[in-house]
Amino acid sequence: MDTIVYPGTFDPVTRGHIDIIERGARLCNRLVVGVAGIAYKNLIWSLDERVDMVRLATHHIANVSVEGFDDLLVRFMQRQGARMMLRGLRPISDFDYEVQFAWANRHLDPNVDIIYLMSSQEHFLVSSTLIKQMYEGGGDIRDLVPASVADRIVLGLSRARGGTHD
Ligand code: COA
Repeated sequence: MDTIVYPGTFDPVTRGHIDIIERGARLCNRLVVGVAGIAYKNLIWSLDERVDMVRLATHHIANVSVEGFDDLLVRFMQRQGARMMLRGLRPISDFDYEVQFAWANRHLDPNVDIIYLMSSQEHFLVSSTLIKQMYEGGGDIRDLVPASVADRIVLGLSRARGGTHD
């Protein structure tokens, strides 16, 4: 495959995302991580900050680039010249949402297709929200996020909760 797009909000990027990006990059010539500006959830980091963090965390993978977008995902894919999207699947929670997500995107652009990689076992239950909740409760989240951006993530989480601990 030529170009694949891996979309998400990455607020923050986790080791689970990196696992999917590393494995997805082996399937294509060029993997573009699409960081969404518009999200239907409360975000801690700005689009530029999230793009920067994903760039740092994927620096070691030669055929990966990271771009922000703030319109429809299918339009972003068209601009990248990509018809194939990559999604990570975790058991328990993801399937129902993914069916709806696939339908919506294919409704918007019937040329789009999606490939799914099952998350590795150690990342099955990680999510960005869970990381925020664990930090909020005083837990150590450093082993769940890429080492290269762990300090930035902890700093951002600390600022978001009023800077009371790191
Ligand atoms: N490992 C760990 N966590 C993972 C993961 C993995 N392999 N894959 C997904 N997750 C987590 C994410 O961190 C996220 O956690 P959170 O909900 O706690 O923040 C959650 O699973 C959902 O991830 P994802 O399904 O990738 O959603 P997202 O909110 O990060 O991104 C977009 C959704 C950006 C792809 C989607 O909103 C979009 O396309 N937006 C653009 C506008 C558009 O085109 N809308 C129409 C499409 S329906």
